[in-house]
Amino acid sequence: METQILRPDDDMVVITAAMNLTAGNLVALPTETVYGLGANGLNPEAVAKIFQVKGRPQDNPLILHIADTEQMELFCHDIPESAWRLAEAFWPGPLTMVLPAKEIVPKCTTAGLPTVAVRCPDCEITRQIIRHAKIPVAAPSANISGKPSTTTAQHVYDDHNGKIPLIIDGGPCRVGVESTIVDLTEERPRLLRPGGITPEQLIAVLGDLIVDKAVTAQIDKDAVVKAPGMKYRHYAPDCQVIIVAGSREKAANYIHSQYQAGDRVLCFEEELPLYACCNPLSYGKEADVESLSAGLFAALRELDDPAVHKVYARCPEGGGIAYAVQNRLKKAAAFQIVDAEAAL
Ligand code: TXA
Ligand code: MG
Repeated sequence: METQILRPDDDMVVITAAMNLTAGNLVALPTETVYGLGANGLNPEAVAKIFQVKGRPQDNPLILHIADTEQMELFCHDIPESAWRLAEAFWPGPLTMVLPAKEIVPKCTTAGLPTVAVRCPDCEITRQIIRHAKIPVAAPSANISGKPSTTTAQHVYDDHNGKIPLIIDGGPCRVGVESTIVDLTEERPRLLRPGGITPEQLIAVLGDLIVDKAVTAQIDKDAVVKAPGMKYRHYAPDCQVIIVAGSREKAANYIHSQYQAGDRVLCFEEELPLYACCNPLSYGKEADVESLSAGLFAALRELDDPAVHKVYARCPEGGGIAYAVQNRLKKAAAFQIVDAEAAL
């Protein structure tokens, strides 16, 4: 199969993408977070292709992407008032809500759960395509399962050339980490995955938020968790990744004491001079956390190279979007963290 890449300025892009989706084909779509591998979310055969092409475990449900807030009612029931308030505040945008699923949503989309994750992405071309196709689009992040997410059309092409018919190239993703997931099916709202909408922003609207344990710790692969995707090793290059916490100076001392040929250092732009002899790679500026979230996955993909033995990574501190960056890096590192302040 030949994989075609179309840009939004192509006249035929909306029609071609919508026709592919309604025909049951896969289409990779841009969003503000990461690229998604989309299919008609109401068509079990189309959804099955996502699992097959991505190599995704069958127990990991998909997010249903909708074009407008009102479509939430087509696929979810017993929608709490808090969901409408969140939609009003953050949609279109990087927020996914888990709600009770209507019968119309097939079991393969929800991996058999009674709930469905819905999101209205802040990407005009993708919402136009969904509207034109008149179907909700089930889409996981477009990376091969377990690999760092795709934040450019080229990343998607690298993972799926010859396996999918169409990629829509919307340029690099603005946010760069996946959407925030909040479960609204229990008495209290629960954060299942931090992302582009920060915990502080959610609390400002909800007044309350529990953080699921899968966000902060490694979860056993046989455990029963709220967001099945959170228990898999994720976002990771093939080699070992170790986060080095602590002050700039102490971290540099530690990394220099451990560094061996073939290792790489994933650091902030401001730190590049400190690691001139350690093959450093910057993923953004520490002083500009958005640049770190936007650059993280491209950097992790670059480090996914058999020539790289070990990666020492620097991670931003604090809340806001830094919380999502910490979560992704900790998962990439399988929660292996060295405190440089205590290590030497
Ligand atoms: O930003 C995003 O959310 C991107 C773009 C493409 O929209 N999508 C994305 O999808 O990150 P994916 O499949 O890589 O991650 C979805 C996560 C998984 O951890 C999955 O287990 C969880 O959402 N999830 C999906 N449906 C769920 C449900 N009904 N209940 C709990 N968790 C659910
Ligand atoms: Mg993913």
